[in-house]
Amino acid sequence: MEISDFYNWFDKISIKLDTRKDSFYQIFKYLDKIPEPIIIVETGCLRIKDNYSGDGQSTLLFDKYTQFRGKNSKVYTVDINANATKVCSENVSENVSITTGDSVKYLNNLSKEFIKTNTNVALFYLDSFDCDWKSPEQSAQHHLKELVSIKKILNDQTLVVVDDSPIIGYLQQSKVKKDSLELIKPGLVPGPTISGKGSLVHEYAVHTGAKILFSNYQTGWIGFN
Ligand SMILES: C[S@@+](CC[C@H](N)C(=O)[O-])C[C@H]1O[C@@H](n2cnc3c(N)ncnc32)[C@H](O)[C@@H]1O
Repeated sequence: MEISDFYNWFDKISIKLDTRKDSFYQIFKYLDKIPEPIIIVETGCLRIKDNYSGDGQSTLLFDKYTQFRGKNSKVYTVDINANATKVCSENVSENVSITTGDSVKYLNNLSKEFIKTNTNVALFYLDSFDCDWKSPEQSAQHHLKELVSIKKILNDQTLVVVDDSPIIGYLQQSKVKKDSLELIKPGLVPGPTISGKGSLVHEYAVHTGAKILFSNYQTGWIGFN
């Protein structure tokens, strides 16, 4: 099985991924550079069959990808909703380890196990606690807790991606033209940042020197440790 076969499959379905199409492609291209086995850990699993444009079908995509990256490559996913894990299990292969439970507790335990077994995770895909766009704080806090739970097992190559995390910024960023009304002076508004599920993960990234690898509707960082 050649990795080009995976991309032949991905190219056929990727149009359905809509706003996540390009960033999923970037995720896989990044993973191509990581040596096998590829271990992917995800929070928030595929919960509705064929819901490509709404949710993303991430578990299915990761399952397919790892099947082309050697027999020890594997996906781990967790979801608090038993119906979601049931639907997921009906749509992915046995190469995906599916757990029903709270993601923060799960990641904390999994991290301890991976330290013992010296397991290297290539990608953490954080997509649990749904984001209420009018009040995203709780979701952002939950995803920061997830990051705290995995912090010990991140290395400088580990890719951390948070779904539903687009860039936001004030439209007025700098001084307007000389002969226009100078309504806003430079520095009066903060620069662009990451919103949604990943907003606090990004604040942590800024403080610790982690770098954004891409940001579309999904945002990916490397270099947390
Ligand atoms: C947006 S969906 C995941 C979609 C999936 N990644 C996909 O691409 O199809 C978010 C999921 O997170 C789950 N969730 C919410 N809070 C959670 C928590 N504390 N721990 C684990 N999962 C949680 C929900 O039950 C829901 O199924």
